[in-house]
Amino acid sequence: MRILSGIQPSGRLHIGNYLGMMEPSIRLQDEGDAFYFIADYHSLTSIHDPEELRQNVRDLATDFLACGLDPEKATFWRQSAVPEVTELTWILSCVTPMGLLERCVSYKDKIAQGITSSHGLFAYPVLQASDILIFDSNVVPVGKDQKQHLEVTRDIAMKFNDRYGEDLLVVPEPRIREATAVVPGLDGQKMSKSYDNAIDIFEDTEKKLRKKIMKIVTDSTPVEDPKDPEGSYLVQLYSLFASPDEVKAMEDSFRAGGEGYGFYKQQLFETIWNFFLPMRERRDELVADPSYVDDVLEAGAKKARAKARKVLDRVRSAVGL
Ligand code: ADP
Ligand code: TRP
Repeated sequence: MRILSGIQPSGRLHIGNYLGMMEPSIRLQDEGDAFYFIADYHSLTSIHDPEELRQNVRDLATDFLACGLDPEKATFWRQSAVPEVTELTWILSCVTPMGLLERCVSYKDKIAQGITSSHGLFAYPVLQASDILIFDSNVVPVGKDQKQHLEVTRDIAMKFNDRYGEDLLVVPEPRIREATAVVPGLDGQKMSKSYDNAIDIFEDTEKKLRKKIMKIVTDSTPVEDPKDPEGSYLVQLYSLFASPDEVKAMEDSFRAGGEGYGFYKQQLFETIWNFFLPMRERRDELVADPSYVDDVLEAGAKKARAKARKVLDRVRSAVGL
């Protein structure tokens, strides 16, 4: 089973990225042939400063390795080191109906966020389909916001197979874990770097992390009164990191009353800080050894490129090139 996922190097990682994409990918690396990459071609749709892009790629590679991506188990590379993917994108573009892309909500969302409209932004899902299909991927672990892109990928693969021959391309399945499909941000909306509501996995200091967590939106129930744990973002976030017993204790204490929200925020802060502490230490080691990160990406690219070449050759021959 080939497991594949990618993530854009578009800034600092938050706990939505970690729980929605990275942690499931890291867990799956023990269950099959894992292929993970940094989607730098995709980031050209929104990052126009070359230095910023290079730095983001390096930071993301370091962070992913620090979080537990094991290069002995998973192939890890930079998307642009496998340019075959762009050739397949063109071929797939020619079987992709315009209507399929016009229905994509992520394009409309990105325009609404102020990202400049471009052909690349519109065609983004075709490049993503190519990323997935060029490696004969079976399973794609992602957060819920990527579900539509996976449906587009499946549609494109089926259209291609209809036109050129059954089983030429493997039709992949998304793997979306319900509990972490949409991690809420400080304001309860989906956590996203674009909404200014994100808790980064590696906030610069303890103080900054505590300050962020203190900003989580709560109601104005007085300290002594009972509080409703249902629908509380604080409890929701806590349950993503704490054990079931710890969550139950927080819920019971909410219902009993007598503590202010600040008390629970402190508990959440300590839990999140301690959760990421070993990864933070590993990250410091990796930052001190940049050539190790470069070597991992280079070895990964070599392996990924060899596989991509085979699938591209199969496709070229099927379409008559
Ligand atoms: P952002 O919304 O911050 O720009 P991206 O779109 O770059 O994040 O997402 C990268 C990966 O992280 C994707 O697989 C996406 O599904 C996942 N992800 C992002 N935000 C969340 C969230 N709040 N909950 C669960 N998964 C998320
Ligand atoms: N579009 C994805 C995101 O924004 C990143 C991505 C690019 C991806 N290519 C992919 C994810 C292939 C999974 C598989 O998060």
